[in-house]
Amino acid sequence: MTSLLLTGIGSLVTNDPAHGGLLGELRDAAIVIEGSRFAWVGSRREAPAADGSLDLGDRAVIPGFVDSHSHLVFAGDRAEEFAARMTGEPYSAGGIRTTVAATREASDDQLTANVARLVTEMRRQGTTTVEIKSGYGLTAVDESRALAIAANFTDETTYLGAHVVPPEFADDPAGYVALVTGAMLDVAAPHAKWIDVFVERGAFDADQARAILQAGAAKGLGLRVHANQLGEGPGVQLACELGAAAADHCTHLSDADVDALASTGVVAGLLPAVEFSTRSPYPDARRLIGAGVTVALASDCNPGSCYSSSMPLCIALAVREMHMTPAEALWSATAGGAASLRRDDLGRITPGSQADLAVLDAPSYLHLPYRPGVPLVARTFVAGRPV
Ligand code: NIG
Ligand code: FE
Repeated sequence: MTSLLLTGIGSLVTNDPAHGGLLGELRDAAIVIEGSRFAWVGSRREAPAADGSLDLGDRAVIPGFVDSHSHLVFAGDRAEEFAARMTGEPYSAGGIRTTVAATREASDDQLTANVARLVTEMRRQGTTTVEIKSGYGLTAVDESRALAIAANFTDETTYLGAHVVPPEFADDPAGYVALVTGAMLDVAAPHAKWIDVFVERGAFDADQARAILQAGAAKGLGLRVHANQLGEGPGVQLACELGAAAADHCTHLSDADVDALASTGVVAGLLPAVEFSTRSPYPDARRLIGAGVTVALASDCNPGSCYSSSMPLCIALAVREMHMTPAEALWSATAGGAASLRRDDLGRITPGSQADLAVLDAPSYLHLPYRPGVPLVARTFVAGRPV
């Protein structure tokens, strides 16, 4: 196994509490990568020798972003819907059906090319792990092919057959739940690690969602929930009752929801680029952090509610609009995302972790929210290799 010494790191965020503070930041640091893992992290003066070395020119290095929520397998876009929204139309889950129609029409090659384009876009912006959901096929064949395509890009694939009830089941939602928990689950599960349900008025209610999540769990899938996005509802409580890894959105929460997240350890995924793109109120991150809830930041990249793949944008919004500190926002976009995916090998620059990092054309991570909209990511490494 060859080793690589990285030097010229003016500021290094490790997310290792052993180095102090929330981010375990080191100055004038060095890293040794062996194969796909970090082997050594510390002060440049104490760095061991390695087979090769690379001077990063006094830049900042951070763990690669772990984007724990995206919907990348789709065709078409909904730019017109966005434009209408900006002149006052509200966001509604109904737009999902527009993308379902386009996705069913698309070839495997077209869908694959679209995912590849978006994953490339993400990597350029420092994302090293992305969770990818299905949910725009909504037939057994289309959901399983969406997941098979997603699995070519990530291990973190999520079956979202329960995104909305498709038009052909409009008069028979119970029949659709039977399909999602039966024949569709059978062909989707081999390609999926997780199952998710959009729990919302106009999508799935608590009883339907419980049945779907329990069926997924019986097939060995981990649980995630789209919860409390458009209004208060049962999503967060259900996620906590069933021991889901994540309850994402969390925009409209009762005190009982916040208490349940804090006491169960379910990770609250906040997706501020959705609120930006739908011009909606942001989730109350301070309330969650104050209660001791683990918060992840994710993009939710999808053609409807948020067509942005940018984790730096999420950080800027989290700081500017949700009053997270820059350190909290970066932690949530890296270690928080890893917690949401229950991955203890990601989201930190520590010996033994997967060697995923982003090099910033900046003296410190503070520039991520301080210089919004500026492409600061100079290089991204995934599993020890530049991408
Ligand atoms: O997370 N909320 C449900 N699903 C997506 C939106 C999908 C769409 O509008 O196409 C979301 O926001
Ligand atoms: Fe989503």
